[in-house]
Amino acid sequence: MVASDTLTASPLKDCRGISVSYPDRDAIDGLERAVNMALCFRGDAIREINGILNEHPGFIMGWLFKGGWMTQAMETRIYPSMVECLKNAEALLPKANDRELGHYEALKAWLEGDFFGAVQKWEAVLVRHPMDLLALALIHFTMVLLGDVPGQRDVVARVFNLWDESIPGYEFVLGFYSFGLEENRDFSRAEELARQALSIRPDNPYAVHTVSHVMEMRGRQAGGIRFMKDREAQWGTSGFANHLWWHTGLYHLDIEQYDNVYDIFDSHLDSRRKGGHKYEELDAAALLWRMNLAGQESGDRWAHLADKWEPAAEDTLYAFNDVHAMMTFVSDGREDAQAKLLSANERYLQSASDANTAMTREIGLPFCLAMQDFKTEQYDTCVERLLPVRYMTHRLGGSFAQRDIIGWTLLEAALRAKRYDLALGLANERTGSKPTSVQNWRAVARAFRGLGDKGNADRAAAQADALMAV
Ligand SMILES: [Fe+2]
Repeated sequence: MVASDTLTASPLKDCRGISVSYPDRDAIDGLERAVNMALCFRGDAIREINGILNEHPGFIMGWLFKGGWMTQAMETRIYPSMVECLKNAEALLPKANDRELGHYEALKAWLEGDFFGAVQKWEAVLVRHPMDLLALALIHFTMVLLGDVPGQRDVVARVFNLWDESIPGYEFVLGFYSFGLEENRDFSRAEELARQALSIRPDNPYAVHTVSHVMEMRGRQAGGIRFMKDREAQWGTSGFANHLWWHTGLYHLDIEQYDNVYDIFDSHLDSRRKGGHKYEELDAAALLWRMNLAGQESGDRWAHLADKWEPAAEDTLYAFNDVHAMMTFVSDGREDAQAKLLSANERYLQSASDANTAMTREIGLPFCLAMQDFKTEQYDTCVERLLPVRYMTHRLGGSFAQRDIIGWTLLEAALRAKRYDLALGLANERTGSKPTSVQNWRAVARAFRGLGDKGNADRAAAQADALMAV
């Protein structure tokens, strides 16, 4: 009898041994299913948790998961749903435990625009509960969004030794750690841990993603294409597929296989035939802009993308999204949409003080203006805008591979401005970090040719041709 009372009074625990204040096993198991769906980018985690919350409206961790996961969408249109989650959680706080209170405080900070503060609150939870997979995931993903490069690795490093394969979700932890290591240029360890994650769970697209980044950063284009193709069955149906197709397109682009790039674009990134999510349009825009930098025409592909982005012209929630919106407006010649985006950004910078203001002021706005300059052939001005910010671009968020679009735009503008000495330096930098890139050697050749150095220009062109032959 005593034992039974004690059992009844003890809080239930989740599958990683963390106490949950809500006393219902079905709800706790349902949350675990939703977290799994979210982290392996399969199914609809929000629909899953909505089903649980319909049955269990008093399940505070369900509301906090839903609101927490929604933060990652970085879209103003879902703010009302996040506010609803916060309000519902707030009403349940009297029964909450310390972990749940921490998640509540993090979501509250986020909704107040204090993204870095939210990370601190989730960090405080993780320090006390190193097995909190959700807190770990939200911190890691948010640090990617905010451009905290060491942070996206170290948040995992702080708890990694406490985890092992016997703990549910270890494959996701390996995935986070591997990506953090890759962004911090520890490519060997990153690939090793990502492949370990894939050995546990081959359909974990985030671990596939790390390997694709390693291949990209190391210029292993042929290996990258093969790796992605071999594993397409495991990632092609996930919610991460668009971005992984974008990565596959980058390998082809680097070695001038332009038909392959447009095959990928038209088959997988063009959402005209599908519902289309903003991130799909983000990757699509980023690929088309690069194709244009490489001198490739893109037909009517920009118009559809610009249509998709135009409703978000005045969002100003996340500078990373704004620069991709601007990319489509500039490329499709939509001057009204460009003006709307710029004036919304200016109004926002005057009135707001949230975490995104620095991203917008320091990188987002200069790059938006630089893209306008590029399109109107004001290449000198484009160079002058980008040169001072080129080593601060991590503050925009995203990955090195994504932000490389800024460095490539700068180089192409320098070439077109006939500033060949600067262009040579920039192109040399790029061949230094990725010597297998055909594009990089073509730029070196163009810079030498502009400087009148035919011998070196021919040598660089021969290097590019040799790489094509591989
Ligand atoms: Fe990526």
